[in-house]
Parts: sequence; C-alpha cells; structure tokens
Amino acid sequence: MLRKPILLFMLIVSASSAFSQAVLPAQQKKMDAFINNLMSKMTLDEKIGQLNQVSVGFDVTGPIVSKNVNENIEKGNVGSVLNTYTPDAVRKLQQIAVEHTRLKIPLLFGYDVIHGHKTIFPIPLGLASSWDLDMIKQTATIAAQEASADGINWVFSPMVDIARDPRWGRIAEGSGEDTWLGSQIAKVMVQGYQGNTYLNNDKVMACVKHFALYGAVEAGRDYNTVDMSEHRMFQDYLPPYKAAIDAGAGSVMSSFNEINGVPATGNKWLMTDLLRKKWGFTGLVVTDYTAINEMINHGMGETTYDVAKVALDAGIDMDMVGEVYLDNLKKLVKDGKVQQSQIDVACRRVLEAKYKLGLFADPYRYCNDERAQKTIMKPEFLEAATEAAKRSIVLLKNSNNTLPLKATGSIALVGPLADDHRDMIGPWSGAGDWQKSVTVLEGIKKLAGNQVQINYAKGANITNDDWMIKRLGADQLNNDKRPANEMIDEAVNAAKKSDVIVAVVGESFGMSGEAASRSEIGIPSAQEDLLKALKATGKPMVIILMNGRPLTLKWENDNADAMLETWFAGTEAGSAIADVLFGEYNPSAKITATFPQDVGQIPLYYSHKNTGRPYQGDFTDRYKSRYLDISNDPLYPFGFGLSYTTFTYSDVKLNNNTIKPGQLLQVSTTVTNTGKYDGTEIVQLYTRQMVGSVTRPVEELKKFKKIFLKAGESQVVNFTISSADLRFYDINMKYTYEPGDFKVFVGTNSRDVKEADFKLTN
Ligand code: BGC
Repeated sequence: MLRKPILLFMLIVSASSAFSQAVLPAQQKKMDAFINNLMSKMTLDEKIGQLNQVSVGFDVTGPIVSKNVNENIEKGNVGSVLNTYTPDAVRKLQQIAVEHTRLKIPLLFGYDVIHGHKTIFPIPLGLASSWDLDMIKQTATIAAQEASADGINWVFSPMVDIARDPRWGRIAEGSGEDTWLGSQIAKVMVQGYQGNTYLNNDKVMACVKHFALYGAVEAGRDYNTVDMSEHRMFQDYLPPYKAAIDAGAGSVMSSFNEINGVPATGNKWLMTDLLRKKWGFTGLVVTDYTAINEMINHGMGETTYDVAKVALDAGIDMDMVGEVYLDNLKKLVKDGKVQQSQIDVACRRVLEAKYKLGLFADPYRYCNDERAQKTIMKPEFLEAATEAAKRSIVLLKNSNNTLPLKATGSIALVGPLADDHRDMIGPWSGAGDWQKSVTVLEGIKKLAGNQVQINYAKGANITNDDWMIKRLGADQLNNDKRPANEMIDEAVNAAKKSDVIVAVVGESFGMSGEAASRSEIGIPSAQEDLLKALKATGKPMVIILMNGRPLTLKWENDNADAMLETWFAGTEAGSAIADVLFGEYNPSAKITATFPQDVGQIPLYYSHKNTGRPYQGDFTDRYKSRYLDISNDPLYPFGFGLSYTTFTYSDVKLNNNTIKPGQLLQVSTTVTNTGKYDGTEIVQLYTRQMVGSVTRPVEELKKFKKIFLKAGESQVVNFTISSADLRFYDINMKYTYEPGDFKVFVGTNSRDVKEADFKLTN
C-alpha cells in the first residue's frame, strides 16, 4: 500500500536531488521537506536501522563481520554497507533495500578507497612526498571516478592523522608529520573526491578520519592510548581535520583512541562541542569499526547498552559493524535514558547524506556495468598512476652520480621485492588488483630490456623471522623455501657478472598499515644479510626501498652508492621506478616524515621545541638535551630529497625588516640549477617566532613552491608572509599572532636553509 506514494515522491524529486555542494537555500528547503515527510512515516525501529552499518562482501577490515545481512536489510535494520562494491553486488543489496523494505530507503555504500580504487596510486605517505597538490587532487578525482563507477558512493578517506612515530604502521596512510602540509593535502583530497557537486555521478562523499589524534598513539602501538596537551592538539594535530571539514567533507569517522581520557567515540566535547558547535560541521559522523563496542574495553561501560548511550550522547550518528545501536537504542528510549529526538537528529544526518548523493532520486545511480567497464583502469588513469609514482620517489643518496644508470651493460637485479606483484600496491589498496601491478623487473625490461643484460635473482626472503612470519601469515610473504645462503649465493653470482647491483628491498605490504606497528624499523635481517654479501662484491650498489614508513637505514646509507625511496608506489610502480633509474625522470620528491637514525630517537620531527638546554654540537657539553650514544640528528630531515642535478640557493632577501599586521613581507631567493640535468626543486619556506607567550617550535613550514629549472637556469622565487601566516594558539588558546622577532628560513629541506630576520610590530 505504501509503495506507491513513495515511488511517486521519488519521481518528483528525481530531477534535482543530487546536491550541488554549495548548498542553496532552495535546495536545502527541498531536502528538508523531503526528509521531514519521510521521517514522519518512519517508526523508531526504522530510524535506528538507518544508524546501522554492516560489513559484507569482498573485504574484511576489522575483527568481526556482520551476520544475516540480507535479512537485516530487508527488515529495515541497515542504513549503510561497507566492503561491497561492483555494480552487480551493490545492485543486489540496494534492490533489497528499495524493493523489499517498507519505506524503500536506499543504502549508502562505503569503502576504504585510500590511494585509488582499482588504479592504485602510491601510498598516501608517498603521494605527500610529491608536494604536488594538483596531482594529489587528481588522484582523488580518479579514485572517485572509479569508485563511483563501481557502485561506491562513500569513501573512508582522507586519512589526515598527523604521525610522528614511524613505529606506527598507519603512518603509511597519511601525509606525514607536518600540520600545514597535511592540511593542504587534506583539503585537496576532499575536493578531488567530492568536487563541487554530486550532480554528475562521478563524485563520492569523503570521510575524514580518524577524528581525532589517532596518529599520536603511545609508543607507536596501534589502537593505544593518546594523551596530549591542549596546545599540541590545537596547534599540531587538529588543523588537518578542520581543513578537510572546511573543504566540505560530508562525513567524519571517529578514532579508536581516547582524548582527554574519553574515547573519541564517546567524547561529547570532541564530537559535539568542537566538531559541530565550534567548527560548524553539519554532516554525518560514523564510528570506526566496532568502536562503540570497544568502549567496554576502554572502561566506559559494562554493557553495550551503557556504551550505546555514551556514543549517542556524544553525537555519533552511525555505528560501524558493532550493532550496538541496533540492539540497544530502542530500550534506551523506552527506559528514558536517551531521547527519541537524539535518534531523529542522527537519522536525519544519514538521510541527508543519501539525499545529497542523489540516492533517493536514483538508488542505482552508481551501478552501471557499462560505465564501470569503460572507466576502471582506463589508460589515462594508468598514465596518471605512473606520473604520480614518479613524482613520489625520493632520491636519498647518490654518490658519484651512480644514478641515473646508463642503458648499456649489465644489471644484477636482486631482492625479494624486485619481481613481486603483491607488495607493489601496498597495505591498503582495497579493490586494487595486485596481479595487474608492474614490478621493477618488468619495468626495467620494458624500458631497457633490449640494451641491458638483466641478471635477476631473488636473493632473500623479505623476512625469515618466525615470529613475523606467524604474525603476517606465511602465504602473505610468499617465502622461498631454499636456504638463505643458497639464495644469497645466487644473487652474489648475479652481481659478480654484472656492472651494477640494483637491490630492491624493504617491507612486505603487511608490515605497515593498520595493526602493523614495529618496534624495529630497519630492513629485516634476511635482507640485510643479502645487502652485506652484495656489498662485499665491490660492485656499485643501488638500493631501491619499498616500505610504508620512515625506516632506520644507517648501514644502507653508509654502504649504498645510491638509494631511492619508492614507498609502495602502486599499480605502475615498476614503470615509474625504471623511468627514474634510467633518468627518463629526474626525481624531485621530498620526504614528509623524518627518517631517524635509530628507533631510540623517536619521536623525532623537525618542528620540535628548543628546550632550555638545547644541544648545539659541542659533544663535551654534558648537561644538554642530547643522548650519550647517538647524535640528535635525523638520518634524513623533513623535506629532504635529492635530484640528479644540484640546486644552489642565494641568500634570502626581504623587502623590509619589519611588517605590521596586514602588510606583506616579500621573501625572495634565487635558485640555480648548477648540475647537468633539468630538474624540479621544491623550495621550502619556514619561520620561527623567537619569543612567545608559549614556547614555539624551532621551525614551522609555511609555504613552498615547486619549480622546474633547466640545467644552468636560475629563477628568483618569491614568497609573501603576513601576520596571518604567523598565527598560533597563544597562552589563552586564542588563535592569533604576537608581535616580536622572527626568523625566516628558505631552503631545499628543513635542515639546509638560509635565513633572515624580521620583526612583526603592532
Ligand atoms: C580502520 C578504518 C577503516 C575501517 C573500515 C578500521 O579498522 O581503522 O580506517 O576505514 O576499518 O574498513
């Protein structure tokens, strides 16, 4: 009986219910009228059903999976599904919702599209190293095109957690340690996913995660406690989430950790006072996977009944997989513990998301097989993936111009990652098809196979450590059964008959990412043994690294002739690496997370405070902030990355020594390409406030420019700074600037800079 009017209503709204994201009052009014009407027909059970997200389909991304999904959808117990994609699979579930439930409310389909959907780009930490905001936005645009063609309308990205502890495997998923750069990247990723409008069904709703502070888990152990001062929170950790929200992100995901002693998922201060009241967020908040249930372990309640109330009171709209809302909210209302109006608010937010995405107008608008076939992994996307990979590869060392290689003679291509498809696409490549990835061996063969003799040997397993093998699962590692020395001998023989060694080593994809913390972050010993044996041949050795975090690479840095950090570079990894190896592309990327010399130095990041006893290099000066057994220096500082050419910087020139609020300080430097190759340089500008009402970091990134210079060419690079760039949270937690003395630094990384002084007056 009810079916007819709803269908009719769907037809009436169909023409315009996908949203242009700059919400016009008329659109808002229309949406409100539609949702008011719909909600007036909904029972309490149906409203609660909208708050429930189930996991079913192709992936398992958490400790439990949902049961009886089809029955639950049919009963109106489900508002959203995660881990199901492809037009066919999505259509089947959507059909149950819109054809077999009383009110025919369509489902939201969410998925972890982290660095590409089917065409996989480098891991986010790699993409960030490109410092290429347009390109990063483009990767999100392509991911949205592919995901939306594949049935998905909601992506759980961008992950914008600032991370300063590389033991934490999830550092791979974000843009590194810097707040300002992380905020720029957060913004462009949201823009790429969502665009300005959902009218053309090639955009998806973004989900900013993990709100908040997840990157600061103690000891780098995943899911661990976070405890942080208010200053650090506001100054360093919260801005990227805010930037994503200001860019219009439609949803936010709560994090697993606690904040000020209360888990994010039950934290009313975070989810309501800050997010909604202060920041004005009006979208949908979903928990992370079973995060409401986990509040029992956190000690926020003894039963799911208790923690359901905590989460709803905090302002959480949707329960990911936990079914805590489904099981308890009705009783909580009946017992007078929560108000029905709270459920109405949450339900409305879910329905609004569906409305904006145009799902009421056409629940199948993301399910079109023909479009999927035409869109997914099309040649332009693969080209974009190659380009993104090239721009993300960091040259860490290059003595005696070992690189680029000449396309003549012979290469010993060795290492467990040299011809390994699975690892290329990294730990969180969702729907990515690793079988389609290009390995380094394939990339080199394609580029130089006719001119170069390639002597390939695996040389070692990624790890032979029993504990690690048990934790990761033997099939994931694809370990060779041969004894280690036999594999090493084979590689050494290949090296002896070759002009140069290219050793591809690092982590297996499962050694970084979620639930992949490591206490030692070096190259696993099976591979180090291989590298040492190769070194003993005396042949020049190029190390190609694949990994999801900054590693400790002291031995490698001392012994390799050249070293490239390639991260997990995605579907086209091997093509991009070959281009860089042979100089078809001159590397330009710069690391966005400090590489320590040793795990004992962690957390190590460039924008640290000075302390009262800063160590200034005099080793005998005992009572200083330093170690007895190691220097304070990183192996590679933030912003570091070499090129096949060299760049020199002139002194920094200012147009004035003093600025007033509202005035612009012009900062300029001349950068010259003094080497033999054309190349791209990322010119970085940092500032330091010398005195403040609270202590200030020794350096803060404020601006950068990516410039291309032909060999021998010079360019004046101009920046401007105003008082607005110098704002921070003062002693009263006011976001403002303070007059006084400043330094400005310009350079090729955070360490190698030229400086000038200026004053900000009132
Ligand atoms: C992760 C999230 C992810 C979610 C859904 C969780 O375990 O922390 O990042 O979006 O699973 O797969």
